[in-house]
Amino acid sequence: MAQFTLPANAVVRKQGNQYAAPPDAGEVRTFQVYRYEPDEGENPRLDSYEVDLEECGSMILDVLIKIKNEIDPTLSFRRSCREGICGSCSMNINGRNTLACTCGVDQFKGDIRIYPLPHMPVVRDLVTDLSGFYRQYAAVEPWLKNGADEPERERLQQKEERARLDGLEDCILCACCSTSCPSYWWNPDKYLGPAALLQAWRWLADSRDQATGERLEYLADAFKLYRCHTIMNCTQTCPKGLNPARAIAEIKKMVALSKS
Ligand code: SF4
Ligand code: SF4
Ligand code: FES
Repeated sequence: MAQFTLPANAVVRKQGNQYAAPPDAGEVRTFQVYRYEPDEGENPRLDSYEVDLEECGSMILDVLIKIKNEIDPTLSFRRSCREGICGSCSMNINGRNTLACTCGVDQFKGDIRIYPLPHMPVVRDLVTDLSGFYRQYAAVEPWLKNGADEPERERLQQKEERARLDGLEDCILCACCSTSCPSYWWNPDKYLGPAALLQAWRWLADSRDQATGERLEYLADAFKLYRCHTIMNCTQTCPKGLNPARAIAEIKKMVALSKS
């Protein structure tokens, strides 16, 4: 069986800084948080924060904000909406990619480990570089292509046509799915990954779009599309309950039908 090891400078030091809870804390829980500060020139480390849950909101994002505001201002992470809408706070919590703002502390027992999204370059702490992910999204040209004359008002759809877009338009581009996909880990530069492919399907499924042929021609590629081996991590982890694996299967079916 193949064995993979991290490069020496990426191995996480288990014993990072320890931050004890105040003596009068009520319900104490320990959060082990991945820390990487590139300017220090040292390996990443796991810092350990004891947090009084009686003085904190109920979500993992509330804990991170409390740590940053009251315990350790050097901790970096992304967040914006706090409502599961912007996709900024995606990270790996106890081994699962999800949104910190919709992930309740009460889902877990014992210490909670918080890492950045896996297999992505880390800018600092929990902040990953998503440039490649956004390039892949742009590569599927996620906009309406319709050469017909512009109608006076909107381009109409039947209710059933609009219903085909349910579960596709709701994607918030959090990258939880793509960064949980083993095929994406090994070929992040060539395989488009489940998030970009879900968006590709969103436009293929749109009755108003007229670029089906050119979209399929771009996608029908051994790496861009067919690196998906239906492992299903993507669908299992999506914090919005979407099904990128099904979208990929639909694209494969459409490519096959277009060639028959
Ligand atoms: S499909 Fe789900 S996990 Fe993937 S980017 Fe969209 S919302 Fe995030
Ligand atoms: S179903 Fe495809 S895209 Fe989803 S995790 Fe598996 S290989 Fe990746
Ligand atoms: S802060 Fe916007 S999705 Fe979590």
